[in-house]
Amino acid sequence: VSWRGRDVVSMRDFSRGDLEVLFERAREMERYTRSGLDVLRGRVMAVAFFEPSTRTRLSFETAMKRLGGEVVGFSSAEGTSVEKGETFSDTIRMLDAYADVIVVRHRLEGAARLAAEIAQSPVVNAGDGSFNHPTQAMLDLYTIWREKGRIDGLKIGIMGDLKYARTVNSLLEGLSLFDVEIALISPEFLRPRQETLDYVQSRGLRLRAYTRLEEALGELDVLYVVRIQKERFLDPLEFERVKGSYKLTAESLRGAKDDLIVLHPLPRVDELDASVDRTRHAAYFRQAAYGVPLRMALLSLVLS
Ligand code: NCD
Repeated sequence: VSWRGRDVVSMRDFSRGDLEVLFERAREMERYTRSGLDVLRGRVMAVAFFEPSTRTRLSFETAMKRLGGEVVGFSSAEGTSVEKGETFSDTIRMLDAYADVIVVRHRLEGAARLAAEIAQSPVVNAGDGSFNHPTQAMLDLYTIWREKGRIDGLKIGIMGDLKYARTVNSLLEGLSLFDVEIALISPEFLRPRQETLDYVQSRGLRLRAYTRLEEALGELDVLYVVRIQKERFLDPLEFERVKGSYKLTAESLRGAKDDLIVLHPLPRVDELDASVDRTRHAAYFRQAAYGVPLRMALLSLVLS
């Protein structure tokens, strides 16, 4: 299957071959992140962000502009007709009439799939609810591939809110396409949903669960950290129970392999201390920077 005209809604829709094509293209695009490459002149990307974002929206917009394209859209429902009571479907229908590709972020799970059903143009899910954030997972996998030269054979720790973080869910689905071993590090209560575990295990992903980083750290090649997704908790008391339950510091990385890389989708709150920035392990700002070439690659493939 080619990338052309495809919706990007869930990692489950993509094969290892698709990702390899994307990574090779992103690697080429790294050369053009400043100079630009005029391949999407005259094309328009609509961003429909109903939920806050910094990196995802701005790296998509930068990517489109570097490719010579144009961007329209909004970064919150405020100031749009949604405030007058317009439905999500009508909003998407309009954007579909104006743009060649629609990038959607929404609080509700399933919003991007619904948008993809409504729109003729390709729809890219920039995060909906607590389940899917496929382009972040593609970026995370690209960062690993780029920094380590491969994904197969690595031991990867994922630490934090594994239950509500959509980046983690999509990343696990993506990692299930590779031959890796995963250490899930979290309080019991924040383990991934059972449905996700069943899915990735049925695809052969090897998982082990830990509650303490020290038990897994020494073996890891990659450590991926996520914040507690406060806004997704149904019960504020549940949040109080797990708040502050893990924190990565330079000190807690003693005992790590020399070449361990620490990744984080950002934003960080208190789970990733600034002391880690000064260690050789910190790779999260490079990861965020790869967002532009990765999304240039994605847009150029989808709109080619
Ligand atoms: C993530 C998100 O929105 O899900 N941010 C991002 O896209 N880089 C992670 C988060 O909010 O914790």
